[in-house]
Amino acid sequence: MTALGGARRPAGYAQPAIAQADIAARPGAVSAAGADLSVGARAAVTRLALTDFRCYARLKLVLDARPVVLTGPNGAGKTNLLEALSFFAPGRGLRRARLGEVDRIGAGPWGAAATVLGPTGVLEIGTGHDRPNHDRSGDVGEGQSTDGRRVVRVDGRTERGQAALASAVAVFWLTPDMDRLFAEGPGARRRFLDRLVYGFDPEHARRVAVYEHAMRERARILREGRGDGAWLSALEDRMAREGVAIASARRAVAERLARAIHDGVGAFPKAGLAVEGPLDRALAEGPALAAEDAVRAALATARGEDAISGGAATGPHKSDLVVRHLGKDMPAALCSTGEHKALLISIALANARLVALDRGAPPILLLDEVAAHLDATRRAALFETLLELRAQTWMTGTDAHLFAPLGQAAQHFAVAEAAVVPLAGVPS
Ligand SMILES: Nc1ncnc2c1ncn2[C@@H]1O[C@H](COP(=O)(O)OP(=O)(O)O)[C@@H](O)[C@H]1O
Ligand SMILES: [Mg+2]
Repeated sequence: MTALGGARRPAGYAQPAIAQADIAARPGAVSAAGADLSVGARAAVTRLALTDFRCYARLKLVLDARPVVLTGPNGAGKTNLLEALSFFAPGRGLRRARLGEVDRIGAGPWGAAATVLGPTGVLEIGTGHDRPNHDRSGDVGEGQSTDGRRVVRVDGRTERGQAALASAVAVFWLTPDMDRLFAEGPGARRRFLDRLVYGFDPEHARRVAVYEHAMRERARILREGRGDGAWLSALEDRMAREGVAIASARRAVAERLARAIHDGVGAFPKAGLAVEGPLDRALAEGPALAAEDAVRAALATARGEDAISGGAATGPHKSDLVVRHLGKDMPAALCSTGEHKALLISIALANARLVALDRGAPPILLLDEVAAHLDATRRAALFETLLELRAQTWMTGTDAHLFAPLGQAAQHFAVAEAAVVPLAGVPS
């Protein structure tokens, strides 16, 4: 096991010296997260406060930058805690919940606040459920739903959408539900890929929101049969421009990840990644501007059939992330659940490594129930890589002793009935 201070780095992982100096130059940052920060760049939640968040009426946690281990019985509140952290990324969190579901039953609205230490300093991030006012118009805009809207604050400033979260902090997660990722429809895989892209290109979140809003608007106008040709053309133009930017960003990240995985993933299987769809083919074959023109033309031609289907004939919403188990030369969809999990860990670790290079710190990783399903060798390899990456990884499980190899390199908490208490000593 690599000691915390003995930064042995995996191949291809260079410690960004500038970010490191940046943290060291900020006394507030160093004292906020413990002395171990002086030896490497990290991103870490150093304070988490929850209000009426699912089973938590109120929770306050003070942390340092080390990985966080949460153990306790089923139903204790471990996944809920990870879900709260997942709301520091754009989207609907790791359960894809409706905002109202997250309100503590009989209470709410929920709120989550964190102090996040990153390579550029300390940020205060807050998010939560803004319940709808019944006198407000029924118009549903970006980040809104009939369920109310999610508010986002970064350093006291209220942001217009959730995209600002992706600039503030990179958060990435793996959950047991994702074992079905390769067996399900392409929507879940697109969202998975988009979350990977947020780590590299925070603008991606804004583009996805703008694209989806334009697509919904166009579908509404077509459904209502309004002959608003100029407005439809404007929406289709927006879909073409944002759509091509989205598809290009996805392709670039999938290619980088595939290369990083090819260069080595240790004990985990090598995954092949490719994005496939009409727009991705167009981008592979020709320039982006030609792809944009093709989307505009295809959408204009397809108005009649889209009015009937309720969809949109082409665009990045037709793409799929195709993953292969390279060792077995087999599509991921045909692999076992254990192999799925191992492939996802490969992708998550490669992603963490690349994000660390780009942003100066790895993402905050949320690994729900991951350790229990790995054999001892792979579990040790996972822990070792996470420590080498210096990622603040939040891990859950029912069995504290599985995390014993992490020793003092992690902070261990017991979770029981929505109370989170530091474990006395390190589990053995
Ligand atoms: N909106 C809510 N209000 C209150 N309790 C909730 C809400 N949503 C879920 N819970 C409860 O939170 C508890 C803990 O769930 P979870 O975090 O998934 O446990 P685990 O520790 O097994 O991961 C469950 O018993 C569930 O009933
Ligand atoms: Mg759970």
